[in-house]
Formats: sequence, structure tokens, C-alpha cells
Amino acid sequence: MGETRTFDSIEIRRPELARGYLGLLAAEPGRPLALFAPRRVGKTHFLDHDLSPAAKQAGMLPVYADLWLHRADPLAAINHALEEALDDAMIPDGRLGKVAKTPVRKISVPGASLDLGEAPQRRPLPAAPDLRLDAVLARLATQHGGKILLMLDEAQTLADFPADLIATLRAVLHKRKNQVDAVFTGSSQEGLARLMTTVGAPMYQFAQLLSFPFLGEAYLQQLAVHFASVHPGKALDVAALQTLFARLGHKPALLRDIVKSMSAEGITDTHTGLQHFMADERQAAGWRALLDALSPLDRMVVTVIGQGRPPLGKETLALLGRGVGGKVTISKVRAAIEKLKRNGILSKAGGQIAIEDQLLAEYVTQLPLAAAG
Ligand SMILES: Nc1ncnc2c1ncn2[C@@H]1O[C@H](COP(=O)(O)OP(=O)(O)OP(=O)(O)O)[C@@H](O)[C@H]1O
Ligand SMILES: [Mg+2]
Repeated sequence: MGETRTFDSIEIRRPELARGYLGLLAAEPGRPLALFAPRRVGKTHFLDHDLSPAAKQAGMLPVYADLWLHRADPLAAINHALEEALDDAMIPDGRLGKVAKTPVRKISVPGASLDLGEAPQRRPLPAAPDLRLDAVLARLATQHGGKILLMLDEAQTLADFPADLIATLRAVLHKRKNQVDAVFTGSSQEGLARLMTTVGAPMYQFAQLLSFPFLGEAYLQQLAVHFASVHPGKALDVAALQTLFARLGHKPALLRDIVKSMSAEGITDTHTGLQHFMADERQAAGWRALLDALSPLDRMVVTVIGQGRPPLGKETLALLGRGVGGKVTISKVRAAIEKLKRNGILSKAGGQIAIEDQLLAEYVTQLPLAAAG
């Protein structure tokens, strides 16, 4: 095994997990998978680095669309991703492809003119987004000569849309089940679950819901191995790393940042490492900036929730009212919570509203409530 050169280059590949998902898709054509997991645990990384290559290996064409980036119009985002893939599929790779694309219609031969004519044009894709989705999927699958793997990231975005959009997506995926498999991923357990399981909603019992697994011990071991190679004679305890990883909500990049700062200081104790990391002015500045960007009420709602107070309780409402200088009603707090969930600051875990980022949650517990308002 080659040695890893930096903490940042440590990467865990999960080809067997990817093949497992492809197997599930193959077993039930037309039934998408819905993978969900909290934020920052590696969903997108997996789609990009594991699922796409496995799909290619299986002769499929992976197509990725981030629905959050185009959350005003997710169907357009899907169509756009497919059309880009179609463009790519029509133009062979490399320089030769680019050259072949330049329009050469006439070749002059002395004494004659050889007319190559227009390449036969296909009919333009239909403009109506639902028909367009159907048409572009069919065309792309034919062009590729194999199945498409449509990966819809941040699919919880769809939960905010009228049912007919979801019904369209479902109908097209069903109709084209021999040409396309689909994987939805999302970070809002709630949004995705609502989307997939609401009785009467078009996605009901359509997709197979799976929880996407966190990175395992292999990641922690590689961090420890690299740490030992940088600091001969010092060792990180993998069990302690595991505890820290769980405390951080299994976010690999965050753990890596903490281990990097431990490495910079040459410390091996994870408690001290976390303390130092949290006390770092850059960390605090990041959290302050995040809180400062919120409205006073939103900021106080985050603080109140972080401090474990019932957000809709009478005393809390009075406290919030004093903080913002006006009457704060239950419906105002509810609206604030919805907004904060939507932008990923709050999440619902086990029926309980909580701050999504565990370290931000810890930071907030130390804040005086007045300072938060
Ligand atoms: N398999 C992996 N090996 C090493 N590091 C990883 C791995 N997967 C993810 N990471 C690290 O974690 C970071 C977050 O991953 P990623 O963006 O895939 O998470 P996500 O679950 O899609 O987050 P979000 O919910 O915010 O979209 C990556 O930038 C990468 O640094
Ligand atoms: Mg992601």
C-alpha cells in the first residue's frame, strides 16, 4: 500500500456499497432508491467517486443533478443535466471530437463541388418540461446504448413542490424503467421521508428508502496511520477517534480538520484536540458570522433550541419577545423553525428539533441569550 501524503488526500472508497445499490436497482426496475443521511457525511462524494464509476463499469451512463442549486425549478435542473449528458454523448471525447463538430459542409474539389449537406437534424426536444424529460431520457439512452443512472442530489427539495411535479417525475421514471434507474439522495430526513412516504403523495411506496451508512473505522485508521507517520513515536487512539467522530455527527471533513490541528500542535488527546479546535478564534468567527447573518428572531430561536429550552413554551416566547422587542407568537416561531430547517441550520432527529452542526450546538450553549438577540 502506498503511503498517504497528506491528511487531505485520505479518501475512503466504497465500491461494494455502490455495487450493492446498483444490484438493488437492477432487482426492481423502475423503483428508485432514496438514500438519506445528515449533512456533510459524504453523500455527494459517494455519488461522484463511488456510484458513478461503478455505474460506468456496469455499462450505465451516470447523470448527476443537484436539485438544491436550481431549487426554483427542479424539473428544469434534471432536464438540463440530461441535455448536457446528451451533448457529451453526441460529441466523442477528445480533440478529434471537437474538430469533427466544426461544420464542414462543402469540400471543394477542383472542377466539382462535393456537397456533404446538413447532418440530418433530429426534431427539437419538446418545450413542455414533462414531455422534454421523457424525450431526452429516451434519446440519451438510445445514444448511449445502455441504461442511464439518474442521480438526484438534495432531492428533499422536491418535498416543497406541488404533487403534480413529483407525479410527472414518477410517471416518466416508470415509463422509462428499461432505460433509466434513479437514485435520490437527501439530507433532510424529514423532507425526504415526507416526500417518499406521505400516503396519497405520488412518491408513496415508489422509492426504496435506505439510510446511507457513515464512514467506518477504515477512515479513522488512515487518519491515525498518517498521524503516526508525521509524528514518529506518537499515536492516535482509534477508539477515541471513533468517539469523537460520533460526537461530530460522523462528518469526515470536520474530523479531518480537528486531526490536522492536533497534528499541528503535536497532541494526541482527542478531548484536548476538540477543545483547542473549538477555542480557535477562526472557528468562533465562523459561527458568529453564521449567526450574524440571521434575523434577530431566527438567531434567538437557534440559541434557545441549542440551550435546550422548549421553543414554543410560554416562557421561551416571552424571552424571545423581550429579545426582539415585540410580541412573538407560536406561529412566528414555527415559521422561523421551518426556515432554519430549510437552510440546514436546524434538523429534526428522533422527533426532536436540534441544531444540525454539533459543534455549533456546543458553541451556542455557551452564549448568553441576550448576546444572541
Ligand atoms: N469517502 C470519503 N473519504 C474521505 N473524505 C470524505 C469522504 N466522503 C466525504 N468526505 C469529506 O467530507 C466532505 C463532505 O462530503 P460531501 O459533500 O459528500 O457530504 P454530503 O453528505 O453530500 O454533504 P451535504 O449534505 O452538505 O451535501 C467532503 O468534502 C470530503 O472532504
Ligand atoms: Mg451533498
